[in-house]
Amino acid sequence: MSTRLPEPPEAGLLNALRFGTDTFRFLEGIQARFDDGTSVSIPGRPPLVVLTGPDLVGEALDRPEDFPRVPAQDAVTMIAENGLVQSEGALWSQQRSVMAPSFSGEQVTAYANTTGRRIEARADQWAAAGARTTDLHREMTSLTVRVASEILLGEDIGTERADQFHEWMQVAGEEFEFGIETVLPDWVPTPTSGEFEQAAAGIRELSEQLIERRRESLAAGERPDASDMLTMLIRAEDNPDIDYPENQIRDEVATFLIAGHETTALSLTYTLCLLSWHPEARRRVRQEADEALGDGPPTHDDLAELTYTRRVYDEALRLYPPAWGVFRQANGDVTLGQYTIPDGSAVIMPLWSIHRDGSYFEQPDTFDPDRWERRTPRAVDAYRPFSSGPHACIGRGFALAGSTLVLARLVRDFDIDVPESALDDLRLTPTLRPADGVEATIQPVGGR
Ligand code: HEM
Repeated sequence: MSTRLPEPPEAGLLNALRFGTDTFRFLEGIQARFDDGTSVSIPGRPPLVVLTGPDLVGEALDRPEDFPRVPAQDAVTMIAENGLVQSEGALWSQQRSVMAPSFSGEQVTAYANTTGRRIEARADQWAAAGARTTDLHREMTSLTVRVASEILLGEDIGTERADQFHEWMQVAGEEFEFGIETVLPDWVPTPTSGEFEQAAAGIRELSEQLIERRRESLAAGERPDASDMLTMLIRAEDNPDIDYPENQIRDEVATFLIAGHETTALSLTYTLCLLSWHPEARRRVRQEADEALGDGPPTHDDLAELTYTRRVYDEALRLYPPAWGVFRQANGDVTLGQYTIPDGSAVIMPLWSIHRDGSYFEQPDTFDPDRWERRTPRAVDAYRPFSSGPHACIGRGFALAGSTLVLARLVRDFDIDVPESALDDLRLTPTLRPADGVEATIQPVGGR
């Protein structure tokens, strides 16, 4: 027989207010008190359900018909409403299969090698600049947006537009910070500021330019064997079985420009912060990179030797998951495990607090990359930085391969140091991001 998830003892609205105003503490409190999850009543609207148990989370993510995505929930959606990050049902399924070949093993190898070349060029610039202080998050954003555009869209957008992109994403992030409005009726953020509109228009326009140029180069017969995502999307237009809504390609391009770089930039920033605070881990990464990498750009082949670096990255994604939560909505009164989730419930799966729960991870607040060598089944089950189920991140392989190479190369050649307080002020926008950049000193390692 199914039951309702337990309610927290405090009055519903009070809980909802705490969710809106002090989200980290609210989530950590809920995580500590409920093994499976809780249902917070909110007067006049369906409950807010927080799932804390990895089994329930996995089940909900495996059932997109019962737990579809929340309409228009974040910046990506407001900028590109039909992109893969937002679409559901037939359109999602069509688009995912058009794009799947661009994410195959072969493409991941090509992506890793492109990332390797790009990080080589960036490392040379850093070395030439000598010791300096800079915003690490901005550096990582400019790196990953250029890599994403080159690999997915077949064109490097260059430094200036990459920097512009960082500004646009800052604006979008500020608009979408979780606040009290998140839990009020009609839980759909509606950013209207002129600044946001400008950022959104800028991203759409850039996407259109990239598409136009690619159409021209395809029409001119250039690079007939290209298999990047944009080429696949344009070619699919000739397939009579494929039906694109208006602006579909533009929406996908904008979506991938955002989804393909932002989380990766954040993950690199967090990993480099953790390494700055853990000198022994940094020493081990440097030693591994010294042994694995040659003189030229890092390549996909080097990954087999970078196992500790990869564990460091996995551990950083646990402690600071850039996608801190996954959001769904109950479609009808649905049964989940032993519970009934009422129709319309907002369902939050807080990766942030699940990843820091001592029931699944020994000494959960400790940065311990070697836990991924021990790989206890409970930890593996609870760990979902890329989500799971049919909507799991399509770029996971890209992100893991590319980031491991970036980390190895940067840590081999540079001391990157940030203050202990660098991540004290984190913001829960749809992604987990530093409130105001991350100031770092970057110093070439002697002899490089
Ligand atoms: C460390 C880096 C990354 C993290 C932590 C991350 C995380 C995630 C998560 C948690 C989801 C699931 C969201 C949901 O279920 O609602 C997701 C979906 C997605 N990600 Fe990533 N991602 C990363 C990198 C990338 C990259 C490099 C790309 C593109 C190349 C990408 C493209 C996407 C897309 C298109 C989806 C939607 C997939 C679908 O619904 O079919 N992500 N990502």
